[in-house]
Amino acid sequence: MKWLWRFAFLVTLISTFSYLDTIKDRWYVFDPESLHELAQAAVNTHGNDTRAMVSFIVSNLTATYPQDASAGKVVSLNPRQDEWVFNNAGGAMGAMYIIHASITEYLIIFGTPLGTEGHTGLHTADDYFNILTGEQWAFSAGALEMEVYKPGSVHHLPRGNAKQYKMHKGCFALEYARGWIPPMMPFGLADVLSSTLDFPTFYHTARITAREMFKNLLIGKI
Ligand SMILES: *[C@@H]1O[C@H](CO)[C@@H](O)[C@H](O)[C@H]1NC(C)=O
Ligand SMILES: *[C@@H]1O[C@H](CO)[C@@H](O)[C@H](O)[C@H]1NC(C)=O
Repeated sequence: MKWLWRFAFLVTLISTFSYLDTIKDRWYVFDPESLHELAQAAVNTHGNDTRAMVSFIVSNLTATYPQDASAGKVVSLNPRQDEWVFNNAGGAMGAMYIIHASITEYLIIFGTPLGTEGHTGLHTADDYFNILTGEQWAFSAGALEMEVYKPGSVHHLPRGNAKQYKMHKGCFALEYARGWIPPMMPFGLADVLSSTLDFPTFYHTARITAREMFKNLLIGKI
């Protein structure tokens, strides 16, 4: 009898997740095309000045996306442009500023002026990496040749795919991920526990992510 209950539980769990997966689109606020246009506008207006581009992007988003319930889909954005934390993941290291985080989307500025290289991770979300400064190189196993992404271009990594990537010299990007965000977090935090032991960074990353997700949940943005 016991196994029957376990089986029923498993089937229910799988159907619930399959169903949620088919309707996750209704919680999306951003779209990859507009963000790509915005990243291109930032590059054209402030080419090579990362700080000015970040500020340009955040003011545009603040003006474009309603932050109060009277105006359709709402979203909470993090205005603290000096709130950067290190991120070590998949062997690569950089710093990020979390502009927005929810259960189904995140939007961050990620990069380093030094260059880095690693594994993209195997994720449950689609990833759009909009290059602002520098270059990102990428390589799929078997491709034998590299992909090159320059300022104004976007590197789309569909969910479930992994690549090797390199920011050969410095590179900063506006990274947008949509899909299921919480399962991506262990990848972002594993290196802290297994390698860097940088617990202050771990604490601030967890604190900022939780705070931003919670702010969004409170206004019904899942
Ligand atoms: C934001 O950027 C987009 C893309 O460049 C542009 O079409 C739009 O007019 C901008 N909005 C504001 C409020 O600046
Ligand atoms: C940014 O700097 C690089 C290297 O100095 C240069 O090749 C490129 O043209 C610059 N881009 C812009 C948009 O100013």
